[in-house]
Amino acid sequence: MSASQINDLINPARLRLGIKRAFTGDVNEVLSEIFQNAMRAGAQNIRITTDDRGFTYQDDGRGLRDESDFEALLKLGESGWDQHVKEDHQSIGVGIHSLLAHDEVQSVTFSSNLLSLTIDAHLWWDWQYAARWRENIRTICFPAPGMNIGVMCSKALTDQLVKALTDAWLIYRSPARGYYGLLTIMINDIVVNTSVPEDAAPSVALIETSYQNNRLVIGLYGKEGYATQNGIWVNFYGQMIPVDQYSRFQAYLEVRQGRPVNPMSPSRCGIIKDESLTRLCDFIRDSLFEYFSRTPIEEIDPLALSQFYHDYPAQASKLPCFVAARRKRYESGKADDYCL
Ligand SMILES: Nc1ncnc2c1ncn2[C@@H]1O[C@H](COP(=O)(O)OP(=O)(O)O)[C@@H](O)[C@H]1O
Ligand SMILES: [Mg+2]
Repeated sequence: MSASQINDLINPARLRLGIKRAFTGDVNEVLSEIFQNAMRAGAQNIRITTDDRGFTYQDDGRGLRDESDFEALLKLGESGWDQHVKEDHQSIGVGIHSLLAHDEVQSVTFSSNLLSLTIDAHLWWDWQYAARWRENIRTICFPAPGMNIGVMCSKALTDQLVKALTDAWLIYRSPARGYYGLLTIMINDIVVNTSVPEDAAPSVALIETSYQNNRLVIGLYGKEGYATQNGIWVNFYGQMIPVDQYSRFQAYLEVRQGRPVNPMSPSRCGIIKDESLTRLCDFIRDSLFEYFSRTPIEEIDPLALSQFYHDYPAQASKLPCFVAARRKRYESGKADDYCL
């Protein structure tokens, strides 16, 4: 089948409208897509400023050089990134549409180098308007470095955006968390927290290792033996993605090379439960087994060992040690309450 014949199997106009509905309208989702693009563009700094009419975004990445780069930006299913980025990130060329699909966004102006293009976000979904995008490209007098995005939107959306990145409660799940060392993000001259959220890394780290050349930390989720619904957190080039998996252990994988697991598209709300994820889970289990086999018995945290017996009974039965009993009635969960 040739590339043109594939069109017989696609209704592009309806598919575009379907893509519009693939986004949730959550401000975090829009920010995630924007940060992800900045990182892929090799940017190190992002500056966001807000005013009564909306917000402006600026990064210092490679920007858009010419009209064909604008085309890659706007064409669904097209990515203008370098080949290795396309491969590692599996970019699908849809993300920026989360901004154009947002109900409360009126218009978006993309400016880079000497070109600028303003799009009416509501009309954008009418394919006849979209098809004429080139007519709206303007040349600007002063070159705009990196990528600049001016967004006219409701006050409500601007407020949500500021809160998502600065509010003491919401910052806990802010899409900026995880980008430390990759991006410095400022909003209205305030530095945004980009550190890894506390609950995404094990509270008692047992093993620090490497998985496909990426840092992997494995440990207990909770000091008191609590379990978690997200047994693995993947920091995928800055973006924090949970793996929905009940576990007493927790692993934190910081991906900065290759693609050891496959994030879901378009919004990376999870990791695909495929062979790659199974391989990672097996590696975590085997690393724990090795840890409990090799660590001198007096150094083993009895709580961790009993959790291993809970989560991996088949492997645990092959270990040379087990938790015999608690010395005292359970009170504090302290290690010396147990007898190995
Ligand atoms: N901040 C940016 N700097 C430079 N180019 C960008 C930026 N954001 C988007 N682009 C260009 O627009 C294209 C489409 O972006 P997007 O819709 O997010 O899809 P994807 O990231 O999956 O390719 C990118 O492939 C890239 O060529
Ligand atoms: Mg993108």
